Amino acid sequence: MALMPLNLFVSHTGRSSRQHVTCRYKCGDACSKPVPNTSDNEYFGDVLAAVSRRSALKTAGIAVLAVGAGSALAACSSDGSDPVATSSTGAAPADPPTPAGMNFTAVAPNSEDAVIIPEGYRQAVVISWGDPVLPGAPVFDVNRQTAAAQRQQFGFNNDFAGLLPVEGAPNRFLLVTNHEYTTEQFMHPGYDADNPTREQFEIALAAHGLSVVEVERTPDGLRPVMGRYNRRITADTPFTVVGPAAGAELLKTPADPTGRTVLGTVNNCSGGVTPWGSILSGEENFNSYFGAPEGTPAPEGEAAERLERYGVAVEPSERKWENFDPRFDVTKTPNELNRFGYVVELNPWDPASPPIKHTALGRFKHEAATIHVADDGTVVAYTGDDERFDYMYKFVSDKKIQPGNMAHNMTILDEGTLYVAKLTSDIPADQIDGSGSLPADGKFAGAGSWIPLLRSGPNGQAESLVDGMSAQDVAVFTRFAGDKAGATKMDRPEDFEANPKTGKVYVALTNNTKRGVEGKAGPDAANPRNDNKNGQVLEITDNHTGTDFTWELLLVCGDPEAADTYFGGFDKTKVSPISCPDNLAFDSHGNLWVSTDGNALDSNDGLFAVSLDGPTRGLTKQFLTVPLGAETCGPVVTDDLVTVCVQHPGENDDNSIDDPLSRWPEGGNGTAKPSVVAVWRDNGNIGM
Ligand code: FEO
Ligand code: CA
Ligand code: CA
Ligand code: CA
Repeated sequence: MALMPLNLFVSHTGRSSRQHVTCRYKCGDACSKPVPNTSDNEYFGDVLAAVSRRSALKTAGIAVLAVGAGSALAACSSDGSDPVATSSTGAAPADPPTPAGMNFTAVAPNSEDAVIIPEGYRQAVVISWGDPVLPGAPVFDVNRQTAAAQRQQFGFNNDFAGLLPVEGAPNRFLLVTNHEYTTEQFMHPGYDADNPTREQFEIALAAHGLSVVEVERTPDGLRPVMGRYNRRITADTPFTVVGPAAGAELLKTPADPTGRTVLGTVNNCSGGVTPWGSILSGEENFNSYFGAPEGTPAPEGEAAERLERYGVAVEPSERKWENFDPRFDVTKTPNELNRFGYVVELNPWDPASPPIKHTALGRFKHEAATIHVADDGTVVAYTGDDERFDYMYKFVSDKKIQPGNMAHNMTILDEGTLYVAKLTSDIPADQIDGSGSLPADGKFAGAGSWIPLLRSGPNGQAESLVDGMSAQDVAVFTRFAGDKAGATKMDRPEDFEANPKTGKVYVALTNNTKRGVEGKAGPDAANPRNDNKNGQVLEITDNHTGTDFTWELLLVCGDPEAADTYFGGFDKTKVSPISCPDNLAFDSHGNLWVSTDGNALDSNDGLFAVSLDGPTRGLTKQFLTVPLGAETCGPVVTDDLVTVCVQHPGENDDNSIDDPLSRWPEGGNGTAKPSVVAVWRDNGNIGM
């Protein structure tokens, strides 16, 4: 396929392509505001008594895992003879065979207003903003949108997607998606940001949340159907609060004196499908939904510190929801803020069941939560706090998974221990100079420990493991607990995902251009670049139910021709450029799939497959790119179908729905619409 030349729209050459309008509406303008983590906990470049990687690797649990990884690698090798990457100038005789699942022609970087897929593949939109989800939903009309219509239609800015097979119906799935945020000037013609209307506020409530849509696999992709599970969750659907913060004074409001029922969920970014068939979803930049009228005096003391650590400003919010409902006014209803920032769980198989907020997993800007089940049935949930210099967490359950027992399994995340990650490395500090140059032994690697913060038990009982904080304080103001524990300040921990084949855990660290800036943490072995524009992918070999781990960087992202990039040791002349890793997924072969958000290399964002084992470890190939201004989210990779969420197509500082950058997916005079897209190959499986 002939591709347009690059650099048609990206104005931030060498910077993330994320537009300021995206920052304002998606994350409360976090990029322009002070970094909320001002703790002075040491960064591990300072740690003298670092645990030796070699000795840590000798622990019994890790040794067993390493053997497992070796076997998985043998099973994953293919006997294909294709060159490993089409960007190479020709297959050298010594090239290792393409790994199973990655045999497609890599898509080149581009700036098309289209989803670009490999030759020989097909694509179709599954569902778009405004499409019917519930029976009787009105036909979408961008000029006559109402809140009543939006409540029955697919929401805005889909981020996470889960695809759950419907038992007994071979071609039916539940597609569960998050609707992270609204960007009103790309939704309402003539939108006046200074004077939003009540109807626009109510449309926004209805356009947030989640959608459950039954879909049918057809020769033309996935087709939505009006199934009995179809459901919309919005920013005012009642949620049940469980765990140590349920019923706490900190969660009580005039409208909910019990502190146990919260209306709605907002800014749901990524998520995870649990092994028991529910959906987890992270409430991320919830701070941006709360504000106060101009001139409102800010609180002082502890209240001020809490607002600051969570990035909440006592000023008019971007969408001005506080003008329409006092619960979004941080001075009128200060505790409402404490009711957001959790991992939520939805049972999509029971449309009448209230979704829940799990407070035992702490409160911060959860990107997602994903599950690994240990051999003994213990459940480990991994979750990152997506903010520059914030932390990585895991929760280890007391209860064991019970196959088929949804009621039991949906309580697993309420009893157990919450930990925060502290990383170490024995790489000499003078080899970590902020340039990204590899240390002498050829890779960024180290060890680490999980520091316990909170032990939660039955009926909301809990014990704080942090001096000076109560259990409820730790559950609600978890960032302070991480600070006190001396957790490692990371470059924006986004999605976590455990490899179902090897158990190794991967973390997307999107970027952090404040790394190394005066007054901020400098480089360390896991966050080795100052002014980190392109991000990295961390691989953790975790003793899942224990507290030790080892780690190394799998990818140091960016232009493969640049000296500061690393692709798992693979030949950098044969990989696709990748920038700003965000969401992660695995295929059945054990390849890691990475979607990107904010590509700083003058190309649209994309979805990439990465080989993890054997001679192709680090091979990275771009499978698709998304349209102008969009972010690639929520990848689902099955053997015969890939779906991605195309979020915020056309979102650009200089544009709006009245002057669009993108017309995707309809083209012509169409309105840019966040949508889910399916990609498949006739007569063949993905990448085989
Ligand atoms: Fe919504 Fe962490 O990206
Ligand atoms: Ca994300
Ligand atoms: Ca992101
Ligand atoms: Ca994921």
